[in-house]
Amino acid sequence: MTTRRQFIRRAGLGTAAALALPHALGRAAAAGVPGAQTPVLTRPEHGALPRLAPGSAYDEDYWEKVAAQYDITDKVTNLEGGYWGMMARPVLEAFHSNTERINRENSYYARTRFDKEAMAIRERVAATLGVEAGELAFSRNATEALQALIGQYNRLEPGETVMYADLDYPAMQNAMNALAARRRASVRTLVIPEPAESAGQIVDAYRAALDAHPKTRLLLLTHVNNKTGLVHPVREITALARSRGVDVIVDAAHSWGHVPLDVSGFGADYVGLNLHKWIGAPLGVGAMYIRSSGLGGIDRAHGDTGSLDAIDSRLHTGTMNFATILTIPAALDFQESVGWVNKFTRIRYLRDLWVQEARKIEGVYILTPDHDDLVGAISSFRLHGEGGAEANRALVRRLVDEFGVFTVARSGIAGGDCVRVTPALYNLPRDLEKLVGALREVAA
Ligand SMILES: Cc1ncc(COP(=O)(O)O)c(C=O)c1O
Repeated sequence: MTTRRQFIRRAGLGTAAALALPHALGRAAAAGVPGAQTPVLTRPEHGALPRLAPGSAYDEDYWEKVAAQYDITDKVTNLEGGYWGMMARPVLEAFHSNTERINRENSYYARTRFDKEAMAIRERVAATLGVEAGELAFSRNATEALQALIGQYNRLEPGETVMYADLDYPAMQNAMNALAARRRASVRTLVIPEPAESAGQIVDAYRAALDAHPKTRLLLLTHVNNKTGLVHPVREITALARSRGVDVIVDAAHSWGHVPLDVSGFGADYVGLNLHKWIGAPLGVGAMYIRSSGLGGIDRAHGDTGSLDAIDSRLHTGTMNFATILTIPAALDFQESVGWVNKFTRIRYLRDLWVQEARKIEGVYILTPDHDDLVGAISSFRLHGEGGAEANRALVRRLVDEFGVFTVARSGIAGGDCVRVTPALYNLPRDLEKLVGALREVAA
């Protein structure tokens, strides 16, 4: 019998291997290989989009129609999709109508209907992620979920160590520092190789750090980091950590809808994520995942008197935006109508378009490797080895002021600051060409 998890993995949601095939097919299609043509599309108008067969990352007619589902600004060319994900028009419309409905029905709706509908939505989210509904709780963002996991982690003893890397998210690094201070534990950090050459090299960096600090009890591990876009081999690192009795909290804020994701396959007890980046749900929704084996390691939320045996007692958000939660199905419908693997392939293709050209420009140094397992849509660069904060902010200003290309500077990398570029489904190749043209000029 096929289990739900097996089905999801087969559907291409869960494995990195699933990504390799469409890339290969896409390249074959571009090279005119017989049998690898992109399909003819018939109904790309408003609403549900037709599913594409894998390999259609290059079908610009289709992707123009997908991009047309987004109301994008003409003020700039937005290559900063990494901050948060725009809602596609059908999702925005669902959000408007859900907002009107809950505003009209007010407490009557909230008190009589919401819990039931939210439960069904949690079931769908869990099924899509390949986890149990009871392992998930909705939060308002990844930060809230991760702060709770870190702050309420109760297995850390005085004299033990918590660990994180330079590429982890600053707010989560700070939360780890605060936890360590409160528990009279110490903090150790590691530096991820730049640019990372292989998954094995990254695992080796963690192995060396764990070897050097055998008292480590808790590791913060980011799946797709927000600074360089490197995709970290979470499954391997988690296995390594757990074999030494180290608990792992995975920051998957940039994962879902961006790269193949197998939450339970991480092997970690704790994961925080959001749906307002790459799932394109309305702003203000995330989720906490706790595997049942890890529930005892997380205290209940401050003052919560709920059951110790249920995840709900670990996150106490108070009133959330009902309409945001109610719009999750529309966001998932949109993602599914494009097709997960098609999306991963397309945004990776857009990333490759600029990176391949930028690598040829003297003075442009790309921090993110090209290996299929190590990158999604996000990549970063440094110009003429300049890692200063102000220099990178100035470069971002210049890119937008002179060329109309909007990006963002990122700090906190051991090797220095950089500029991050994130294309999304609403971008087209001409946007990346514009960036490359700008880079040629600024590098000269
Ligand atoms: C790696 C990483 N972790 C956590 C967060 C916080 O996510 P949220 O905005 O959902 O709180 C972000 C946001 O950019 C991120 O990039």
